[in-house]
Amino acid sequence: MKPTPVLWVFASLQSLAAALTVAEINGNKFISPYSGQAVTNVTGLLIAKGPNGIWIRSTTPDDDDATSEAVYVFSNKVGANLTVGDIISLDGKVTEYRSNANYIYLTEIASPTNVRVVSSGNAVTPLVIGKDTLSPPTVQYSSLDGGDIYSLPNGVANVSEANLVLDPTKYGLDFWESLSGELVTVKAPRAIKTPNQYGDTWVVGDWAVTGENKHGGLTMSDKDSNPEIITIGAPLDGTKNPTTSKMGDQFEDITGIVQQTFGFYAILPLTAIKTTAVASAAAPPTTLLSQGNCKALTIGSYNVENLAPTSAHLPKVAAHLVDYLKTPDLIFIQEVQDDSGPTDDGVVSANATLSALVDAIKAASGVTYAFADVAPVSNADGGQPGGNIRVAYLYRPEVVELYQPNQGGSNDATEVVAAQGKGKSFGGAPTLSFNPGRIDPANGAWTASRKPLAAAWKAKGAKRPFYTVNVHWSSKGGGTSLHGDRRPPINGAVEARMAQANVTGSFIAELLALDPTANVIAAGDFNEFAFVQPLKTFSAISKMVELDEAVKTPIEERYTYAYDMNAQALDHMYVSPALAHSKTTRFEHIHANSWAAFDDVVSDHDPSIALFNMCGC
Ligand SMILES: *[C@@H]1O[C@H](CO)[C@@H](O)[C@H](O)[C@H]1NC(C)=O
Ligand SMILES: *[C@@H]1O[C@H](CO)[C@@H](O)[C@H](O)[C@H]1NC(C)=O
Ligand SMILES: *[C@@H]1O[C@H](CO)[C@@H](O)[C@H](O)[C@H]1NC(C)=O
Ligand SMILES: *[C@@H]1O[C@H](CO)[C@@H](O)[C@H](O)[C@H]1NC(C)=O
Ligand SMILES: *[C@@H]1O[C@H](CO)[C@@H](O)[C@H](O)[C@H]1NC(C)=O
Repeated sequence: MKPTPVLWVFASLQSLAAALTVAEINGNKFISPYSGQAVTNVTGLLIAKGPNGIWIRSTTPDDDDATSEAVYVFSNKVGANLTVGDIISLDGKVTEYRSNANYIYLTEIASPTNVRVVSSGNAVTPLVIGKDTLSPPTVQYSSLDGGDIYSLPNGVANVSEANLVLDPTKYGLDFWESLSGELVTVKAPRAIKTPNQYGDTWVVGDWAVTGENKHGGLTMSDKDSNPEIITIGAPLDGTKNPTTSKMGDQFEDITGIVQQTFGFYAILPLTAIKTTAVASAAAPPTTLLSQGNCKALTIGSYNVENLAPTSAHLPKVAAHLVDYLKTPDLIFIQEVQDDSGPTDDGVVSANATLSALVDAIKAASGVTYAFADVAPVSNADGGQPGGNIRVAYLYRPEVVELYQPNQGGSNDATEVVAAQGKGKSFGGAPTLSFNPGRIDPANGAWTASRKPLAAAWKAKGAKRPFYTVNVHWSSKGGGTSLHGDRRPPINGAVEARMAQANVTGSFIAELLALDPTANVIAAGDFNEFAFVQPLKTFSAISKMVELDEAVKTPIEERYTYAYDMNAQALDHMYVSPALAHSKTTRFEHIHANSWAAFDDVVSDHDPSIALFNMCGC
């Protein structure tokens, strides 16, 4: 069918209007105003080539910081006869691409045709971040987070749907989007944490940062989750980044392309990053030492990541407890698997697992621990299927012992019991109906999650017992990333942790109602940050004080875990007012794992250790 003259005029106007600059194609928002449209004669300098496309930079830039002057041209053929430094023009289709509905889109020109080389041998100069560009914002990711990336409700907006005008001076996602496709240089890059198994490495450059800890990582804090950190992804020349780097290591300057990839803004380096200086991987061991009695009692906590009797990392966990924590008097352990590990065979006892750990500690130190746990109902507590992970205590019986022990079963709910009658024993202290015992195991808050394990203890020389609650709340699995489309990002299972905070907090509140001066410690893997609602609720209901807060650990040193870009604290100790106000109380996080190289990481969490006077006088 021949086009009518009217249609011909329309088509001609459209092709004229389509001679767009790269900045016009990108626009000043996340989504291109030309998304889905054909464009012709887009002109740019070829700044880099990758396995599946090329990047071009406008030869007619605007002066708007919100519009990237570069764009990805997606095609594994287009680069074949082109050379970096060519100025080319091409036709194609503006496309917004993502491989997952939770990711921010990448703006690209797909299906390039009519590729013409205008000139060759032109200089290609990367933009130095913070010098030729703005500096990355250091606090907020998106205006859609309302000033608090962990606020609730979350997931109420999408970057792609709101499609706001970028403000690269204030918001990290806007900043990196405003450089999408650009060739940039990171000066004096420093590793923020151990890379993943592919060598993807989170770094900062020589720009201003917030939250810097003493080892060179950046620690998240209330309302500041460090958007100034960027990951270095797979090198464009097919080389591989090292997996041996770690928090605080320094690299040669890195030059590469800013690209939205696998749900994160990243810099794809032209070639593999090179280490120039290494930070120490040897975390200092604890300075907190037990006196072997109630005057100075040490209490550790460690998530040992799916520990089974045959785990290759079991002797290393034992070595950490001996060398780093100096065999504390009492240890809260999380993620202990049953005697058959992940084999799904109905076995729930962890006696063999805990005995293997106790034996390994004895071999390494000569110290003999006893243990206490309550087995879950098979496959009812979440975690690796068949593994039946649970929390457990290791204790040194010559220093601490269970106070009026009464082993609870999987379905037994331990209750706080007021001392009965006159002549109350041991200072009239409350007891636990099951000791050790699980807290309200039938409560729906614990569906597919670990029930907290409460215990009452008597320390050598003490006039009163002390009480512990070992927790491993629901994990953040199912959430979306800080770089994701959903805003504020979805904090996976936050509703479960809210309910768990209430049940755990209410149990402790009952105990402190009976004895407001009781020494109580709730510790373990809360899978949440202290400044986020579940732990604020827990603290409000229980009146327990976060121990980092009580001893005034510098904010930047409060971390037990490194995830994506941030050093962060999922593990905590909370203590009753009596312990929070005691002059003896001390607390340390031991960075046995977050400073280690990929192959040397024993668990995904760092252990922590505290020292208390538990004499109760
Ligand atoms: C394409 O753009 C270049 C400038 O980049 C211009 O010289 C040329 O005439 C344009 N070609 C067409 C067919 O519009
Ligand atoms: C590259 O050049 C060769 C030789 O001229 C040609 O056969 C091939 O089709 C070109 N490839 C592309 C993608 O233009
Ligand atoms: C955000 O995007 C997701 C995935 O496409 C969608 O399910 C959800 O409804 C969107 N939310 C809003 C508030 O638009
Ligand atoms: C595990 O040890 C406890 C305490 O010693 C004991 O009561 C229980 O029977 C043991 N369970 C198994 C399966 O060996
Ligand atoms: C805690 O749970 C109780 C009982 O289910 C409920 O009445 C109360 O509102 C909850 N409190 C909070 C802060 O969630």
